[in-house]
Amino acid sequence: MTHPTPHRVIYDTDPGVDDAMALYYALAHPNIEVLGVTTSFGNVTVEQAAVNALYLLAIAGRGEIVVTQGVAAPLVKRGEAPPDHIHGADGLGNLPQRQATPTQLDARSSAQFIVDMARQHPGDITVVAVGPLGNLAMALAIEPQLPRLLRKVVTMGGAVLEPGNVSPVAEANIWNDPHAADIVFTAGFNLTMVGLDVTHQVILPVSLFAQIAQHHQHPATDTLHHAVAFYANFYSGLYPHVAAIHGCFGHDVLAFVALTNPELFSTETGRVRVAVDGLAQGQTMLRRKSIDYPQSGWGPEVPDTQVCIQVQAPACKALIERTLMGAWLGA
Ligand code: BDR
Ligand code: CA
Repeated sequence: MTHPTPHRVIYDTDPGVDDAMALYYALAHPNIEVLGVTTSFGNVTVEQAAVNALYLLAIAGRGEIVVTQGVAAPLVKRGEAPPDHIHGADGLGNLPQRQATPTQLDARSSAQFIVDMARQHPGDITVVAVGPLGNLAMALAIEPQLPRLLRKVVTMGGAVLEPGNVSPVAEANIWNDPHAADIVFTAGFNLTMVGLDVTHQVILPVSLFAQIAQHHQHPATDTLHHAVAFYANFYSGLYPHVAAIHGCFGHDVLAFVALTNPELFSTETGRVRVAVDGLAQGQTMLRRKSIDYPQSGWGPEVPDTQVCIQVQAPACKALIERTLMGAWLGA
C-alpha cells in the first residue's frame, strides 16, 4: 500500500549498522521524505553517531539533510560503553577509510529540532526512533503538546513475547534508557512499537548487500556492505540459524517498513510500560485488554501502543531489496 503523500520523517538514530541500513532504505523509498536526522548515544557515543549520520548522508549525496546531536547519556541510570563488538568501534563495522566530506551539524539539540519541526508542521511529521529514546523524552519536556503535534512515532525497541537481547527480558534500545522509554510509552503519542518480536523474524543475508553494492557501484552501498558484513559476523556467531545464511537482523529498517507497509505486520494494541529498575530493567510489558489487572500503573491514563507481533518476513525482505536496488543514488 502506498501513502498518497510522502511520510515526512525525522529519523532519530544511533548509527550503528542497522541504523545505516534503515537510513538508506528511507532515502531510497519514494514515499519517505527525510527532513532531518537526530542522533543519540547507543551503538556509539553521540559524537560518533552524529559523525556517522553526517558521513552516511554525505556519501549518499544527501548532505543537505539536517543532522543534530542529541542526548549523550541515559536520563537516570549510568551509561555503558558502546558495543564495539556488534557495530565496530566506529559504529560502521570499522571502515578501513573514510572519504573527506564537508560536514556541518545543526547547532540545535536533537530535542529542540524535533520540537521546532513539530511546531512548524503540526500533525504532519512522523518520528522514526531507532535508538534509546532520550531525545523524544527531552523534546516532551520542552513541548508537552508534542504527542498532538506529531503525526506518529514508530520506534524500534522492546519485546513482548520474544526474549531480550541484552538481558533475558530487555531489548538494547530500551535497556539503554528505560526511564526515557517509559516516558515515551506513556506520553500519548500515536505510537507503534517494532520490537524483537518481529525484528528477530527478518534475517537479511550479507549476500543481499553484496548484490546491492554490485548493482550500484557506489561508495554509499559499498560502505553499507562493509558494515553489514561486520555486523553479520556478530549475529552469525550468536545464532546458528542466522549463521546458516551468514546474515543479520535488520532491526531498525523494520521501523521504516512498518511505516511504509503496515499491512506486512499484525499488531496488538494495549498499554505498554517499561520496568525502569531491578532484575527486569528495560523490559517492555504489554497489558492485555482481556484481563482487568488490579495493580497501579496500568490505568486508563496510560495510552495505547500498537505493538507489532507478527511480520511477513519474506515480503519484508523483498521490499527492502526492491527499495535499495532502486535508482536512489546519483552518480
Ligand atoms: C537495536 O539496538 C541497536 O543495537 C540496534 O541499532 C537496534 O536499534 C536492536 O536491539
Ligand atoms: Ca539503532
